[in-house]
Amino acid sequence: MENRKKLKLAAIIDGLGWNYVGWQHPDMPVDASENIDFYIQQAKLAEAAKFDTLFLVDVSHVGPGNIPHYLSMFEGVSVMSALSTHTKKIGLSVTASTSYADPYSVARQILSLDKISRGRASLNAITSNPGGMVNFSRGHLGKSDQYPMNKEFMEILLGLWDTYEDDAFIRDKESGVFLDPRKMHTVNYRGKYFQVEGPLNISRSAQGRPVLYTAGTSQTFMDHATSYTDGVFTHGNTQEETVAIADELRRRLVEKGRRPEDFIVSVSQNPIVGRTDQEALEKYLELLRLIPKNSLSRPLFFGSAERVADQVQQWYDQGAIDMLILRQDHPHGLRDFIELVVPILKDRGIFRTEYEADTLRGNLELPKPAFREI
Ligand SMILES: Cc1cc2nc3c(=O)[nH]c(=O)nc-3n(C[C@H](O)[C@H](O)[C@H](O)COP(=O)(O)O)c2cc1C
Repeated sequence: MENRKKLKLAAIIDGLGWNYVGWQHPDMPVDASENIDFYIQQAKLAEAAKFDTLFLVDVSHVGPGNIPHYLSMFEGVSVMSALSTHTKKIGLSVTASTSYADPYSVARQILSLDKISRGRASLNAITSNPGGMVNFSRGHLGKSDQYPMNKEFMEILLGLWDTYEDDAFIRDKESGVFLDPRKMHTVNYRGKYFQVEGPLNISRSAQGRPVLYTAGTSQTFMDHATSYTDGVFTHGNTQEETVAIADELRRRLVEKGRRPEDFIVSVSQNPIVGRTDQEALEKYLELLRLIPKNSLSRPLFFGSAERVADQVQQWYDQGAIDMLILRQDHPHGLRDFIELVVPILKDRGIFRTEYEADTLRGNLELPKPAFREI
């Protein structure tokens, strides 16, 4: 592909992981998902390895059958705000549901996080599982409402993030002029689900506005992503399936007059890696021994460091991913990937050896968006 960016790496650092067993491993703190020291340790590990961003997924549909992590986890904006003061360069991505949350509050929280972190915030604005509607006083809405709500949410969000032109705040003590009111813009949005007048009460950030993603695989998801976001978190069962999704997203971007290079296609994998294939197998077996029914499926990215590096490179070279989001089933999944695979990716020149910028957009090689009045 022409104009290929370097590979981007993200780390889901949310503790116990998306499985039923990891918490029972002797090396996993049992309270990891609500243990700030654990999050700080993981964040520092990822930043030392020059990862682009930390990433948090979220759940709003909570019940006794959930995986343990979902039953005891931090809220994303709160934990990312804390992590912003323990890190300097790495991005901070939060997931919020456009089906439950209020766009004004989310716009304010994420832009505040962007300013607090000096331009490192991003939002994964997802439709999410409709089961959570009952927790958020939206029990009267159904699945068919989710994408129309998502559209309204995105339009309001982008409008509010551009409330102020870059030079709107004069803040001149001598003249007593704080703001040039002609450079403040309200959204005056009247939708079916949300009515928001604005303005927002926070100025634009060092990276213009937070990076915006959404997650899914459907046609409507692709339509919304290519209209509103800077990237996606998507999923394919195989490399071929993922390439097909990525190609379709790129086709739609071009159709809408956008540059595919200015868009990040991400998928997540949970590699189990060792110095040798045998060592990786041992780590996987360690997890299986923790569960009586042995129901943890073997990860797609699995084996020796060279083998996993080859897999990552193949997905990248074939255009399946711009960014790989790592999650860990094994308590040392992130550390092992960083110690064993990242040096190979650096040697091959597909991953950075040093941060290029102070902002998330800078490191993702996304242009800083100019102010635009909606
Ligand atoms: C890769 C990926 C990540 C997702 N992450 C979350 C998440 O963190 N929390 C959540 O509630 N739903 C999550 N979802 C569910 C989506 O928000 C959405 O409800 C679902 O995929 C349906 O979208 P679609 O059928 O339009 O693709 C995710 C879906 C995908 C494909």
